Amino acid sequence: VNSILLSCLRSMDQVKGVLTLQGEALTQADINLKTAKSNQVMHFTFRDDKHWKLQQIQDARNHVNQALQLLSGRDESYHFKTGAEVNKLMDAVMLQLTRARNRLTTPAAMTLPELATSGLMKMFTPPMPGDVMVNFYINLSKLCLTVYQLHAMQPNTTKNFRPSGSSVLHNPGAMFELNNAKFEVSQVHKVECVVPWLNNTLVFFTISLQLCQQLKDKISVFSSFWNYRPF
Ligand SMILES: *[C@@H]1O[C@H](CO)[C@@H](O)[C@H](O)[C@H]1NC(C)=O
Ligand SMILES: *[C@@H]1O[C@H](CO)[C@@H](O)[C@H](O)[C@H]1NC(C)=O
Ligand SMILES: *[C@@H]1O[C@H](CO)[C@@H](O)[C@H](O)[C@H]1NC(C)=O
Repeated sequence: VNSILLSCLRSMDQVKGVLTLQGEALTQADINLKTAKSNQVMHFTFRDDKHWKLQQIQDARNHVNQALQLLSGRDESYHFKTGAEVNKLMDAVMLQLTRARNRLTTPAAMTLPELATSGLMKMFTPPMPGDVMVNFYINLSKLCLTVYQLHAMQPNTTKNFRPSGSSVLHNPGAMFELNNAKFEVSQVHKVECVVPWLNNTLVFFTISLQLCQQLKDKISVFSSFWNYRPF
């Protein structure tokens, strides 16, 4: 997982912005939100002193490093003695590569209170108003930004309050309680942009896993010869 500077710009009616992804960290964010309520455009940036680490990329990189350590754990002159020994190494490497890939293809599900109290809400200047929440995640080769517009539910509301569970993406109508106040998601905006090096990374994971599998297949072909001893 390389460290490359990327700026992405996506424009939609409600959410526009520029994000800078440097390796695993979002180093800059410049977001314009148009709220349905006031039709005003609000402008937020990351505080100068803040970077937001994307846990998914960090985890993927850690798994790749573990795979590399497994591969470089032996001296260059080391000779594998059995096919089983190679298979065992390939299985361990493939496990790490699969985990790395899964981290990029499976964004974390979160509850709305978890989102509301996440450190991400403290990243912005000016601070996000209480009725707006944002989330960043990686989905395959895309960096996604979701913006939730909330409204406070009146204590005397006749609506049935049902808190929603964990989800990557919450729908309008989802409800949650925080500090004895009840909220409902009134609008959801999702914007996403392709990160080319993430796309390449996913392709490399697929190729690496295929190579490992091919090596295992070859060993299994040869071991059937080795096991066949006619004399
Ligand atoms: C992730 O990407 C897939 C494929 O483009 C899409 O079907 C899915 O809805 C996305 N999920 C989220 C949570 O963004
Ligand atoms: C709930 O109370 C608020 C003020 O406290 C009032 O404006 C609103 O009409 C009430 N709603 C219902 C459904 O009774
Ligand atoms: C993703 O990478 C593959 C292989 O490198 C390439 O063929 C494809 O066009 C890329 N897609 C995007 C959206 O960049």
